[in-house]
Formats: sequence, C-alpha cells, structure tokens
Amino acid sequence: MTRITWKIEGDRDISGEVEDGLNLMEAAIAHDVPYIYGECGGCLSCATCHVFVEPEWLEMTGPVDDVEDAMLEMTDVERRKTSRLSCQVEVSPELDGLVLHVPIPE
Ligand code: FES
Repeated sequence: MTRITWKIEGDRDISGEVEDGLNLMEAAIAHDVPYIYGECGGCLSCATCHVFVEPEWLEMTGPVDDVEDAMLEMTDVERRKTSRLSCQVEVSPELDGLVLHVPIPE
C-alpha cells in the first residue's frame, strides 16, 4: 500500500492508502476525491483526471507521452509544468508520500 495525499485547492486535504497497481485516477475515485471524474475510465480521452503533481515528485511520476501531452491541452483548468492526467500514473511503492493538487474547474 502506498500513501497518497490530494490537496483540494482552497479546501481540504484527503489522504489514503492505495493499493499498488491502481492508477492515480482510480485511487482518487476510491477515496471520493472531488473534481477527479475519470469519465473515460482511463483510456486517455477525457482529461477529467487532471492533477498538479507536487514539484518534488514530478520526476517520480514518469514521462508524459505524446497522447497525454495532447490531452493536457484539453483540461478545464489550464495545464502547468506539473500537470499530469492521473489515469496515466500507476501507483507503486516509490510513490509513497506523493502529494497531488486537485484543480477546481470554474
Ligand atoms: S480518466 Fe480520462 S483521460 Fe484520464
């Protein structure tokens, strides 16, 4: 199990233990994290799983491929250098302590 924290911008933090092998969108849904919807189920066609990774953790989340990069142009809240689509990051023990910021759509 890996501990993940979601910081809801301007609101509260949600932390939880996540089963390794899930992706971070599935983990968010399992912990009732608001504003992460995962409408496409993780097939990289909706961008409703957008998060900002705490900068010190960004490298640990791995590279952004071309399809994710294109989809990051379609997020409700404008992308930043630390943006990821959370369905594309698999939970693993190396991510224990990961902090994600959840943008609130306008
Ligand atoms: S859940 Fe649709 S792109 Fe991540």
